[in-house]
Amino acid sequence: MKRKPFLIPYSLLAALIISLSLTRPAQASAPAEHHFEIGTDAFLLDGHPFEIRCGEVHAARVPREYWRNRLRLVKAMGLNAVCAYVFWNQVEPHPGQFDWSGQADIAEFCREAQQEGLWVILRPGPYACAEWEMGGLPWWLLKDDGIRLRSRDPRFIAAARSYLAAVGRELAPLQVTHGGPILMVQVENEYGFYGKDAGYMGEIRSALRDAGFDVPLFACNPTAHLRDGYRPDLFPVVNFGSDPAGAFKALRKILPRGPLMCGEFYPGWFDTWGAPHHTGNTARYLADLGTMLKMGASFSIYMVHGGTTFGFFTGADRPFKPDTSSYDYDAPISEAGWVTPKFFATRALLSKYLQPGETLPEVPPRNPVITIAPVRATSVAPLFSNLPTPIADETPRNMEAYDQGYGCILYRTTLPAGPAATLGAAAIHDIGQVFLDGRRIGFTDRRSRSYTVRLPARDRAETLDILVEAMGRVNFGVEVHDRKGIHGPVTLAPDGGAAAVLRGWQVFRLPFDKAMLAGLRYGASAKQPGATGMPGFWRTTVHLDHTGDCFLDMRPWSKGFVWVNGHNLGRFWDIGPQQTMYVPGPWLKRGDNEIVVLDLLGPREPVIAALDHPILNDLRPGLDFAHERRKAVHLKADFGAPALTDRFAPGAELQEVQLPKPARGRYFCLEALSAQDGKPFASIAELTLLDAAGRPLSTDGWTIAYVDSEERVRADGTAENAFDGQITSYWHTQEGAAQPGFPHRLIIDLGRDRVIGGFRYVPRQGEGDVTGRIKDYRVYVGDDLVRK
Ligand code: GLA
Repeated sequence: MKRKPFLIPYSLLAALIISLSLTRPAQASAPAEHHFEIGTDAFLLDGHPFEIRCGEVHAARVPREYWRNRLRLVKAMGLNAVCAYVFWNQVEPHPGQFDWSGQADIAEFCREAQQEGLWVILRPGPYACAEWEMGGLPWWLLKDDGIRLRSRDPRFIAAARSYLAAVGRELAPLQVTHGGPILMVQVENEYGFYGKDAGYMGEIRSALRDAGFDVPLFACNPTAHLRDGYRPDLFPVVNFGSDPAGAFKALRKILPRGPLMCGEFYPGWFDTWGAPHHTGNTARYLADLGTMLKMGASFSIYMVHGGTTFGFFTGADRPFKPDTSSYDYDAPISEAGWVTPKFFATRALLSKYLQPGETLPEVPPRNPVITIAPVRATSVAPLFSNLPTPIADETPRNMEAYDQGYGCILYRTTLPAGPAATLGAAAIHDIGQVFLDGRRIGFTDRRSRSYTVRLPARDRAETLDILVEAMGRVNFGVEVHDRKGIHGPVTLAPDGGAAAVLRGWQVFRLPFDKAMLAGLRYGASAKQPGATGMPGFWRTTVHLDHTGDCFLDMRPWSKGFVWVNGHNLGRFWDIGPQQTMYVPGPWLKRGDNEIVVLDLLGPREPVIAALDHPILNDLRPGLDFAHERRKAVHLKADFGAPALTDRFAPGAELQEVQLPKPARGRYFCLEALSAQDGKPFASIAELTLLDAAGRPLSTDGWTIAYVDSEERVRADGTAENAFDGQITSYWHTQEGAAQPGFPHRLIIDLGRDRVIGGFRYVPRQGEGDVTGRIKDYRVYVGDDLVRK
């Protein structure tokens, strides 16, 4: 067995500093008021050392009417810059059609930042991540079956170049070299997590230069992937949520001199449906921030204000954990723009590090808040009575093939009379509801990869409907190639008989766009018995004397979307943890306000009300249609000889392990036998399996076959976190009332037979008292470790 330490020191890149000086601002057409450059030891603003105290805010996640308010809050917290992604899929909804209006007016956001005395760091992608639909990539790229995203595939590069040229037309005039606030521009995003092709990074770099970006260009990566895709003509920064000293030490290996910067520093974390609400450890956050300030390092707090993912723009973590609409992030400034204890603690800390002449402005007051008394929605437009003209197709194809990006898609065919049978497809993305003659028979669920439904015997022909909801494309890893709808063909296997392919379908596109909403035919709900249990739109009018921010209480509802005066507030789901939807005051008006709720499962009570506070931490797993999250399985009594018995090194660093010889099987089991700290817990931040040649295997199709223990109450220790691609999240065994001891087993079902040559293990991150770091362990690979 050979263990390779991951962070191999390698030759100091003397060329770096020289090449960085080439990235200095070119002579601007308009005279620049300021001059920014990356100096030998510091960022230099007008020739003086300058520390960037930055915080991330996404214009798309903040109502435009509140941009200035949030920017003032950012300034009042003591920051001097904002970091902003541009989401490609927001500004180019259809190929070649750019729309920079409204929420997508990033130029206006930058101008307002400048007016408020903030610099801007721009991150136009083309890939962003950010828990945003497909990581910001437009869904229409997936209409091309073979496209390889985030690669030198000419189809991807051509589309990315055209987008970046448009970004340049819009935003290059706002660079500091042209009198604007933009100091630096990021190339791609954490590309090292995805690939190693420095040539691809070079392509995106040239596309940005050709688009007119003449300020310094940089690349960000998490600590363990700084070298992947690295190129000396891009200034490197490191992203982390803890341990600045360790992260900067790793950064120094590729940046022997030059200013240190943390590109993303996490004060909290995002939420996914069905998993506990995340909060950050404020004491540790402040300590780490203090360390960076003492070192004179620059940083960007991700997020200083998370806001809301409105509309259809939420993403999903891999293998498939859809993100909530609230992107509160437990950030210093809350989703509704409220200051928090973390805000004041950060402000107090930063006040000690202001530059000469800098002062902290007053903290702006909270925006007005209202409540809305409960109103019953009495008007309903059942989805099945509002179907558009269908497309006829022999077998179902995915949503993109029908030129649709978001919403639901309904597949309909007729089943002849026949015995009870099992309906199935290769995959259904993401949630499928199966109906026979309008009766709901069952669900398919991508979270558990359950793509079959038992159908009862039929004594006559019946209409089969499969209503598929797209829940936001995975925003991380190769899984961004996330096509929605049915991955056909659909088969029917009668009990005791052979499976037959079902043919002759009608496909209804249900994009829930403005045109579709405008065409709905509503009727009185009292006249539509049974409507409450079925997919439908519920409408009501709320009269308001005063407007203000509020939080729609979605607890009587099941799963769907809400529109207020035509603004799509995003997705709700009763399983939580989010139970309220943020309504920005400026989207309400005095007088009558129209509220439309699409509930795909049907409400328990169609009642609309708004609270004066959010509910973001109320999990209700009992309401999930997939009641049992983990199916009971039988483990093989004797796993036989392990593929490897070994011991991990202490510490937080990534460890790469080779098996003595490659092992084949469908199941991979990591059996933890002890912990570094002697306590009874095991945890894993990230596990990457490698093939015989040492290349990472895709996690596509992976599920947890078995885990003996996982913390799901005190924190999010869900087992899937072990391979979600994020080292900040982790699997952790129970740590509350129950604290089962070793051995702990985590078994991954790889979906099919794979050859495994080794793996990478990233221990739970953080400093000090971090439980769960594994010491002794065994690895098993086999086809029969688990019987379902
Ligand atoms: C990464 C990405 C960000 C975001 C965070 C998690 O670091 O770069 O876009 O997805 O993870 O919130």
